[in-house]
Amino acid sequence: MNKPELYVKANNPQRNDADDISDEFEEVIRKMSGRCLDIGSGPGDVVMDFILPKLNPNATIVCSDISEAVVKFGKDTYRGNSRVNFVKLDIQTPNLSRNLVGQFDHVTSFYCLHWCQDMRQVFDNIYNLLQPGGTSLLVFAANHPSLDAYKVLAATTCYKPYMTDADRYIPFYQHTDQQRKTLKTLLKEVGFEVCHCSRREKSYVFDKLEELSQYMLAVDSFIDRMPMDLRDEYKKDLVKEVARQQFIFNQNPSNEDIYSVLSIYYLFVVHIRKPL
Ligand SMILES: C[S@@+](CC[C@H](N)C(=O)[O-])C[C@H]1O[C@@H](n2cnc3c(N)ncnc32)[C@H](O)[C@@H]1O
Repeated sequence: MNKPELYVKANNPQRNDADDISDEFEEVIRKMSGRCLDIGSGPGDVVMDFILPKLNPNATIVCSDISEAVVKFGKDTYRGNSRVNFVKLDIQTPNLSRNLVGQFDHVTSFYCLHWCQDMRQVFDNIYNLLQPGGTSLLVFAANHPSLDAYKVLAATTCYKPYMTDADRYIPFYQHTDQQRKTLKTLLKEVGFEVCHCSRREKSYVFDKLEELSQYMLAVDSFIDRMPMDLRDEYKKDLVKEVARQQFIFNQNPSNEDIYSVLSIYYLFVVHIRKPL
């Protein structure tokens, strides 16, 4: 995700879920003190609005992201806040910097880990980043049916050359049986104590197609690879295909392109602890 300016205008669904889940796990977050790390922070608004205010007042937090543009946006926007810092970090790296090992008391992450495919590497890295006794609260998509739209578009002749890696953008657990059980087993294999691991249904209503379009395009990785003359068509096809994977209602009888979309998806919520 390289468009933080677009993302902050379109991330209402993510903000709603962060508000909801950070409220439910308020006690867990309040116990987080010392040096905290947030993974895949994007522009930083979720950390600033929902996590930082609930952390122990002594805590500081390092916001991290794989995207240079996003890290720069966060640094520029929150320059004045001494409790927050922004750094570049790929949580899927097989070469975690030695300087980072054991450096964090707690780790949070919202709406990021479903962008990763090597989940063992991700959890190994989180384990290694934490101090013994450190805890982590992680929220990420188990199954987001709208993202199957990428697979459909990648199979069409005109978009195929620009979407050869579409599978990378489908959440790892999207088509896995027994999603919660599989994840919990992996967390234990890595060495974590699992305090909580749930897979829960969530929903969001996009009143207008324009809202859905902005939401999808803010995180889209394909459009910038396409020639200019294909981009408008791709935008329209993407939104139509995403809507087709969801529930369409309030359709306008005089214009079939005006309707609302109910998006139903499933999130993992994980609270884990590295043993002492
Ligand atoms: C949908 S945004 C979520 C931003 C924010 N946490 C929120 O809840 O609004 C996902 C972020 O994860 C980042 N990301 C994707 N893969 C990553 C990786 N391997 N390591 C770190 N960050 C990653 C993206 O660059 C993007 O900024």
